Amino acid sequence: MSEKWIETRVVENRHWTEALFSLRLEGAKLSFQAGQFVRLALDVEGERVARPFSFVNPPGDPMLEFYGIVVPQGPLSPRLEKLRPGDALYVATNPAGFLVVSELPDAETLWLVSTGTGIAPFLSILRTEAPWQRFRNVVLVHAVRHSRELVYRELIEQVKRERHELTYVSFVSREAAESSLAGRIPAAIRDGRLERAAGLALGAAGSQVMLCGNPEMLTDVTAALAERGMRKHRRRAPGHISVESFW
Ligand SMILES: Cc1cc2nc3c(=O)[nH]c(=O)nc-3n(C[C@H](O)[C@H](O)[C@H](O)COP(=O)(O)OP(=O)(O)OC[C@H]3O[C@@H](n4cnc5c(N)ncnc54)[C@H](O)[C@@H]3O)c2cc1C
Ligand SMILES: NC(=O)c1ccc[n+]([C@@H]2O[C@H](COP(=O)([O-])OP(=O)(O)OC[C@H]3O[C@@H](n4cnc5c(N)ncnc54)[C@H](OP(=O)(O)O)[C@@H]3O)[C@@H](O)[C@H]2O)c1
Repeated sequence: MSEKWIETRVVENRHWTEALFSLRLEGAKLSFQAGQFVRLALDVEGERVARPFSFVNPPGDPMLEFYGIVVPQGPLSPRLEKLRPGDALYVATNPAGFLVVSELPDAETLWLVSTGTGIAPFLSILRTEAPWQRFRNVVLVHAVRHSRELVYRELIEQVKRERHELTYVSFVSREAAESSLAGRIPAAIRDGRLERAAGLALGAAGSQVMLCGNPEMLTDVTAALAERGMRKHRRRAPGHISVESFW
């Protein structure tokens, strides 16, 4: 079946760094759940080049928002970074994905763990009611190479003001950064630094963990959590870890 597309327009392309950008698009009427993704596309030399992007906006927002990084040799992301207000692009009509709160079993604490642009689906989830109704505590973990890549701080502060249950823990791996943990997430799970920073226990008894971003991080964090008796969540075999790989 051929994919169906909606032509939409760029309203804003915010640049956080030379490589990180957020596109806001005229609202295309799409039905999706927070945490899902949709394919964005441009026509390049007569061919439609499409890639999945996670919604940053919650369902029902008048504008669509996506957060991206320039992969220098990639066919699509360098072109998305250059889009300006008024430029056209295509959005597919079929959002999809299972990184959604409705798929999770009950637990005391929801851990939303991301690297890089993997924070995107969690920014959508945090602005819906479901996590706050289903979990007593919600922890957002964001790991980046450099502190200037700790994006969407204003939005996170706003969610914290409105939802006292949100705990935010950041990691900066390639420079010293005040208020962020150093190194990588799996090491901080193993040595207890992540739990200390969050002030919450991370284990099979009371936690659900959603992971998004770098596929090697997904593998390494899943292994660190397995040492605590946690396993992948499946509909037929409920567990504790739900993942979405960006490549
Ligand atoms: C379900 C899903 C959701 C996604 N959501 C997002 C999103 O919200 N934001 C986003 O920026 N990307 C997202 N991606 C990745 C995105 O689809 C593209 O792969 C990315 O924009 C690069 O596109 P490209 O055509 O330039 O290069 P590609 O040919 O697609 O990728 C080339 C290489 O770049 C690296 N790469 C790809 N994506 C990333 C990334 N996000 N961060 C760091 N390195 C990367 C990988 O090594 C990959 O092999 C998602 C991917 C999937 C599968
Ligand atoms: N155009 C540009 O100027 C530009 C600039 C920057 C990046 N990029 C592109 O973007 C890509 C990088 O994306 P990104 O910055 O989001 O990088 P990333 O490599 O996914 O790193 C993000 C965070 O994840 C951590 N991480 C990596 N592997 C991990 C693992 N196995 N377990 C746990 N944590 C892990 C990193 O730690 P470590 O630091 O320890 O690896 C870092 O803290 C590059 O490959 C490049 O293509 C482009």
